[in-house]
Amino acid sequence: MFLTFLLLILNALQTAQAAFIPVSRSSSSSSSNSSEITLSQLDAIINGTTCPLKGSESLDECRTAAQALPFVNKGFSDYNITSVGEKAALLSLMSFESGGFQFNINHFPGNPGQGTRNLMEFPAVYQYALSTPFLSNQTLALLPNLKKHKGRTSYASLSSLPNTLSNQTKNAIRAVVLGDGLSFASAMWFYTQSGATQIGQPGQGCTQIAGLVQGLQAQTEAGWEHYITDCVGTTVTDERREDYLRTLKILNGNT
Ligand SMILES: *[C@@H]1O[C@H](CO)[C@@H](O)[C@H](O)[C@H]1NC(C)=O
Ligand SMILES: *[C@@H]1O[C@H](CO)[C@@H](O)[C@H](O)[C@H]1NC(C)=O
Ligand SMILES: *[C@@H]1O[C@H](CO)[C@@H](O)[C@H](O)[C@H]1NC(C)=O
Ligand SMILES: *[C@@H]1O[C@H](CO)[C@@H](O)[C@H](O)[C@H]1NC(C)=O
Ligand SMILES: *[C@@H]1O[C@H](CO)[C@@H](O)[C@H](O)[C@H]1NC(C)=O
Repeated sequence: MFLTFLLLILNALQTAQAAFIPVSRSSSSSSSNSSEITLSQLDAIINGTTCPLKGSESLDECRTAAQALPFVNKGFSDYNITSVGEKAALLSLMSFESGGFQFNINHFPGNPGQGTRNLMEFPAVYQYALSTPFLSNQTLALLPNLKKHKGRTSYASLSSLPNTLSNQTKNAIRAVVLGDGLSFASAMWFYTQSGATQIGQPGQGCTQIAGLVQGLQAQTEAGWEHYITDCVGTTVTDERREDYLRTLKILNGNT
């Protein structure tokens, strides 16, 4: 029984390795009206965060614009996100959630397993930790009852498992994706590839939601509201809207 299960997992892992190519997302020239984010743009977006920030409890998590810039641009490039409107939505979310890149995990109130620069929660963090083949073994090794429930293929399920995990395990899984290369790309991954139902088969993220991509690319407030509500799954607030509009202006060069 257990051997069968193990083989299933190994199969899943092999699929994961074979399939680790970001979902093809065509970047047509009409939607591609931005070049790389510049240092001064990023610095303006995060309000000139300096590290360590005076009085900050999370000194090792803090990143300046100069430190973050290469990872931010690589994240957009790896996931083929090229329009100003999409970049502004994702970047303002990241800056808002992380306090201008001061934080990499949720400190207030300290929600277990919640982290990376867009402060994703479970099960997204868990899916993200399984999404790269190099890390999926490490992530699976953290699952505690792997040997106890013989033959339960549900352990390869991406949606049901996290409910059974302890806070400690959630934090250990989160730790897998806290490095700069992953934490600054999680918003891009979530937008384009979250929602997988099986290991090794990336989901389509929010790009499958009707009109969502087009709304962001057109840089409309309604498009951004659609993103916040139906993709991120949170509530539109004046603070979030201000951050988005400010970021949009900065990226359009109208500051
Ligand atoms: C990005 O878009 C280009 C142009 O459409 C396409 O050739 C490429 O495969 C895409 N890459 C990814 C990772 O989706
Ligand atoms: C940056 O400053 C603007 C304007 O005061 C404010 O709306 C925004 O919330 C600040 N963002 C961060 C991440 O501190
Ligand atoms: C796990 O975290 C939740 C949310 O912070 C908390 O309410 C709960 O007491 C924690 N459980 C344990 C066993 O510490
Ligand atoms: C994951 O673990 C399996 C089984 O030990 C191994 O064959 C495979 O090479 C590992 N994958 C990576 C990317 O390390
Ligand atoms: C960028 O492209 C979008 C969608 O095509 C368009 O609505 C917007 O006006 C363009 N912005 C700039 C600065 O060219």
